[in-house]
Amino acid sequence: MVKIENLVKEYSGRRVIDIKNLNVNDGEILAVAGANGSGKTTLLRITSGLMKADSGFVEAQGKILFMPQQSYAFRGSLKDNLLIGLNGKDKKGEVEEILESMELKHLSDKKAVSLSGGELQRLALCRLLIRPCSLLLLDEPTSSCDARGTELVVDAVKKYVEKHGCTVIMATHSPIVAAKCADRMIILNDGGIEADGEPGEVMNDPSSEWAKSFIKDWRT
Ligand SMILES: Nc1ncnc2c1ncn2[C@@H]1O[C@H](COP(=O)(O)OP(=O)(O)OP(=O)(O)O)[C@@H](O)[C@H]1O
Ligand SMILES: [Mg+2]
Repeated sequence: MVKIENLVKEYSGRRVIDIKNLNVNDGEILAVAGANGSGKTTLLRITSGLMKADSGFVEAQGKILFMPQQSYAFRGSLKDNLLIGLNGKDKKGEVEEILESMELKHLSDKKAVSLSGGELQRLALCRLLIRPCSLLLLDEPTSSCDARGTELVVDAVKKYVEKHGCTVIMATHSPIVAAKCADRMIILNDGGIEADGEPGEVMNDPSSEWAKSFIKDWRT
């Protein structure tokens, strides 16, 4: 379980995270929505341990994997990118399988730096999903994806959770990702939790006027 309590982060006196309490259960997929600048990336970075909060705490056990908002590739082919850090174990079969599942197999031997934005984002996700973890943090994993790419990412994340039983927290602007992938959704507003519930309920019956207007804009 991930436990977050009294978490505060400020930049130059402006509060960008202010979360009294947030618990995410083992095996739960939590979508974090909210306008630009509402604190989604900051929350994920603090949870990952990359950034320190000013006060409060995040408790998360086990191995954490974090996919940043900006995807990147290492030099070399797609296969090389996936074999990095796998301790020389024979993982070639798994590499091919995961590239195939993300419809990137035909590009396996191409230079990863030559990929399109959507292809690069799927490769970045493959680089995480080839390893087990207990907490997967994804920052807008479908922001560069088309409809098909989004479907592939949603399927891959769900399969990964079934296989490893890990917890997922993902920032997203996509109602499709929230509805098809997440068990639960929160909406951040100025760093605080504005709505929290089952994605369909939050989207159809938001608990605040602010969330209602946000979701209305989100759907257009
Ligand atoms: N290093 C920093 N210094 C000052 N302000 C920062 C810094 N990092 C983030 N912020 C501010 O904190 C707020 C939250 O930023 P954050 O990146 O968490 O938003 P977000 O919800 O991920 O937005 P987006 O949807 O655009 O990705 C923003 O107003 C941002 O300008
Ligand atoms: Mg962000």
